[in-house]
Amino acid sequence: MCGIVGYIGEKQAQDVILDGLEKLEYRGYDSAGLAIINKDKLQSKKLAGRLENLQKTLSETPIAGDMGIGHTRWATHGAPSDINSHPHLNTDHTIAVVHNGIIENYREIKKDLLDKGYIFKSDTDTEVIAHLIDFYYKDDLLEAVFETEKRLRGAYALAVISSKNPDKIIAVRNESPLILGLGENEFFVASDIPAILKYTNKVIYLENKDTVELSKKGFQIYDENRKIVHRDIKEILWDIESATKEGYEHFMLKEIHQQPKAIFDTYSRRLVNNELVLENINIGAKDIKEINKIYVVGCGTAYYAGLVGRYILQSFLEVECIADIASEFRYNDHYIDDKTLLVIVSQSGETADTISALKLAKEKGARILSITNVVGSSVARESHDVFYTWAGPEIAVASTKAYTTQLTAFYILALYFGRLKGTLLDECYVEILEELKTLPDKVQAVLDKTNEIALEIAEKIMDKKSLFYLGRGLDYCTALEGALKLKEISYIHTEAFPAGELKHGTIALIEEGTPVISIATQQNVYEKMVSNIKEVKARGAYVVAITRKANQDLEEICDRVVFLEESFNIFMPILSVVFPQLLAYHTALLKENDVDKPRNLAKSVTVE
Ligand code: M6R
Repeated sequence: MCGIVGYIGEKQAQDVILDGLEKLEYRGYDSAGLAIINKDKLQSKKLAGRLENLQKTLSETPIAGDMGIGHTRWATHGAPSDINSHPHLNTDHTIAVVHNGIIENYREIKKDLLDKGYIFKSDTDTEVIAHLIDFYYKDDLLEAVFETEKRLRGAYALAVISSKNPDKIIAVRNESPLILGLGENEFFVASDIPAILKYTNKVIYLENKDTVELSKKGFQIYDENRKIVHRDIKEILWDIESATKEGYEHFMLKEIHQQPKAIFDTYSRRLVNNELVLENINIGAKDIKEINKIYVVGCGTAYYAGLVGRYILQSFLEVECIADIASEFRYNDHYIDDKTLLVIVSQSGETADTISALKLAKEKGARILSITNVVGSSVARESHDVFYTWAGPEIAVASTKAYTTQLTAFYILALYFGRLKGTLLDECYVEILEELKTLPDKVQAVLDKTNEIALEIAEKIMDKKSLFYLGRGLDYCTALEGALKLKEISYIHTEAFPAGELKHGTIALIEEGTPVISIATQQNVYEKMVSNIKEVKARGAYVVAITRKANQDLEEICDRVVFLEESFNIFMPILSVVFPQLLAYHTALLKENDVDKPRNLAKSVTVE
């Protein structure tokens, strides 16, 4: 939630910051602002609405200067408005702060500052930081920030500048992500790598509670004890192209089409002479045999991938496996000990709810294995073992290639551990692995053959008030993910139901023309699914079925059928989710919604 950028160097800071904010808009896009210091004078501009408002205003009246900070916001405290936008300033406009995260104790700090005579303009938690720094400032910005940090509780990444110390940016990382970019006589701080990749590929992932002081000459990193510390410089291997649309109309469409390659990259990098070699995973045969319970935890799409993963792990490893939503997991009374394996699923590796669940289970002694797409993310660093999906950067808020690569990760982990534990026979391992290798081509076939149908159905459903997805078993997981896609970008109220559950109440909502998308790929429950489809059809539903080629009989029952390539039951979720992704995309497009940046959402949810 929220993106921050800071720049100090020889270029015009406004250009660098606006470039960076454009790449971070996926983190929040309800307002944007920046502050720049030029010849001891601090100037700031901030506006509600999309970044383009700010870009337009600044192109007419630019702010000169070679150092500054910027912010793109996803509102938590206070509505999106000019006043609530960042940066927040102290009273005499000599200190400016941008912030990603939440200051949990801001009310008590605000009361204290009000008693001291400070006047507040905004409804945000962030404004207290600007006034606190002002309160502690004597003659050194770094010292004032150190003192301020002692008072703050919550998750935050900050960048601070002051016209009283016009040659410095101070930045702090506490639970919210922050990286440092190193260029030639120029330095950057940012919430994420794409913000600075145009200028440098040398980065430092700051550790939790690090504070960094940047000047044009260099930088100094301090740990939580204020000791100067060294952090390794990493070279980013992907280029700026990976973070651009590359000719596609939207990031989401590009990411949907990248899936065959992303799935291929995710498994092929682990195969050496047809044997799975899992770097960063140190769970041996003895360890996996001792595990007596597995939890799979994530949020949103990552949780739905976890639902599929739970099923695969449980059947391959013959061990109890439970999937839970991260924000619920924290408050459920789970029995966790050193024989528990917690599989954390998170594309960004920065989701606050997920990180909290991880920490809680870790404290109780669980072994943590994470599936994440972002190297060096908080989730990766907190975990004992990491499986990186090789999806490349996912920019669109609606997750697509992250989901299918997370599923790929589960297949590989289940194959690997199943064999290690001895619960999966060698011949099954080989057969399943060979089928896994056919998935990129089969996903490509779904993309090629079903896009037109998705467009046709999108035209039919775009004006509907509500829609249902139905499925049984693994198809129910796809139904949940398909419904989430449609909700978040088309804004059509969509519900996913286990098909057998409908008759226990929800079928009352089916009336003439209600769209029902029925996923029927699981052969063990196919006949039951056909009966459920007939039940809704009999009540007037407009039924679209997603099924495998073998099930031609559905054409007689349904209004439209989408046929998928054949595969094993366990692999069908990776094929069946592609059509719902395309359907959501085309529906949102027809409704002229912002596909990549849907209302009220942000890509990286770093608040609980
Ligand atoms: O980065 P994460 O995988 O932890 O994100 C979890 C969810 O916020 C995310 O999957 C969200 O549900 C997507 N917008 C769904 O498309």
